[in-house]
Amino acid sequence: MAVQQRPETGTSRRAFLRHVGVTGGAGAMFATMGALGLAPTAQAASREQAYSAPKSGDFTLTGRGAAKVVVVGGGIAGLATAYELGKAGYDCTVLEARDRTGGRNFTVRGGDSTVDLYGNRQTARFSQGQYLNAGPARLPQWMVTLDYCRELGVPVEVFTNTNADAYLYNESAGMTAPVRYRTAKADVYGYVAELLAKATDKGALDKELTASDQDRLMEFLKDFGDLGDKLTYKGGERRGYTTVPAATGTPGVLLGDVPSASDVFASGVGRYFSFEFGFDQAMLMFQPVGGMDQIPKALTRAIGAHKVRTGAVVSRITQTAGGVTVTYTQGGRTRAVEADYCVGALPPNMLARIPHNLGSGVQSALEAITPQSAGKIGLEYRSRWWELDHKIYGGITETDLDVTHIWHPSYGFHGERGVLVGYYNYDTDADAYAKLTPGEREKRAVAAGVKIYGDKYRTELASSFSHHWRQTPHLEAAWHDTPGGPDDPRYKPLNEPTGRVYFAGDWLSYTDAWQHGAFTSARRAVTKLHARVLSA
Ligand code: PHE
Repeated sequence: MAVQQRPETGTSRRAFLRHVGVTGGAGAMFATMGALGLAPTAQAASREQAYSAPKSGDFTLTGRGAAKVVVVGGGIAGLATAYELGKAGYDCTVLEARDRTGGRNFTVRGGDSTVDLYGNRQTARFSQGQYLNAGPARLPQWMVTLDYCRELGVPVEVFTNTNADAYLYNESAGMTAPVRYRTAKADVYGYVAELLAKATDKGALDKELTASDQDRLMEFLKDFGDLGDKLTYKGGERRGYTTVPAATGTPGVLLGDVPSASDVFASGVGRYFSFEFGFDQAMLMFQPVGGMDQIPKALTRAIGAHKVRTGAVVSRITQTAGGVTVTYTQGGRTRAVEADYCVGALPPNMLARIPHNLGSGVQSALEAITPQSAGKIGLEYRSRWWELDHKIYGGITETDLDVTHIWHPSYGFHGERGVLVGYYNYDTDADAYAKLTPGEREKRAVAAGVKIYGDKYRTELASSFSHHWRQTPHLEAAWHDTPGGPDDPRYKPLNEPTGRVYFAGDWLSYTDAWQHGAFTSARRAVTKLHARVLSA
């Protein structure tokens, strides 16, 4: 049955659904509810029903009560652990070494200060409303992070991960000016389509495809590559214009000469296109309004700030006969928390340095997981020249320079100022920048940007702030490499509780380097811990 109209009020909506149920049966009703957004679709169900949060009612018939839990680490995994356990009344204490929660979820605003492991001290001078998400900055729609934003009341907005008007720039291929994504795509897709169409036409696929399948393929290729007569690619409006079409008398002037297929392939621009095919990087993507740290802030509020001890550096985890003792120093004093259970939610490279009595299996598993590098620089500009002069609103410029990615802000459009991410790089590029002073980092990043965008990249700059995760105290990693994957048997002492100690973090998930990994890992630990408490 076709749904012609969306009933508006609650009563008429119920009546409408009853009607559908009567005439079409329960299956039709459920499908209609799905179409109306009232019942979960299969995909939403697989994401949300796999987890059910602990609740105080779970204890009603068991005669047992919630336990005391000490959570080591106030990043997303630790906060999610305390938040979820808190739903059932667990008494959680979160120990966080830094002066704020969130871990790698770090939003830099004017006045924020950091000191890296090399001793570089920086204070951000960003103006009011401007920020840099130094860590996580984009959320795919399928990740549970968005469910937490909904649940916690954190508003989200679109994050532009790909933009046809952003640039591609490969210096090593001899490019002296950037090319727009749309132009590069038109050319690469055009020539690939042309070559495949010609090969097909010559019978190269006769063994692979029937004649009618070849016809369908040809039809697709002509459309996909915008092919003209004789199956050739000749450019066209997909590449863009030097004068855009406007009123009568202004049909538009197409971008100049179409490069040869050889030049297009030599430029290497096609290597960036598959990024947006990734399950975790495809548009649309989202970001919290006002900065990614709205998530840990909301989690911390929901847990109760009094349950979170910041500046608390854990010095020992000791399993005792009936519980766990975690020792920490805070403001020069040594203290301890005694609890029934512990959840270790620090990065593995940090946990590996904390003395414990959990055995060599835990220690060697932690040491097998290696920390990786990434860095970002935020460049605040006095004007949004990328919008004014280049007509680029959000999105990412890809380069083969050591800055790697340049991000245009996905907030504050048409405002006076804006913060570009002048580099987002990994591994040796990130480490090379980390070794420079913040001033030298800025100089090097700006010199790279000038090659692509011209002088305003230097002359409009107001201030900068750079951040490198491998050199950040108490974290020392952007993400981790887990040889064999998180289910490898060697990580069993981390995936199964070791005595009364559980572990959680993105590094124990198939989505490391995403908050989704931290959230789902925390949910897994919480589920196991709660089941044990209920049956103990
Ligand atoms: N989540 C991070 C990002 O989106 C790191 C990452 C990059 C993870 C690419 C997977 C793929 O930048």
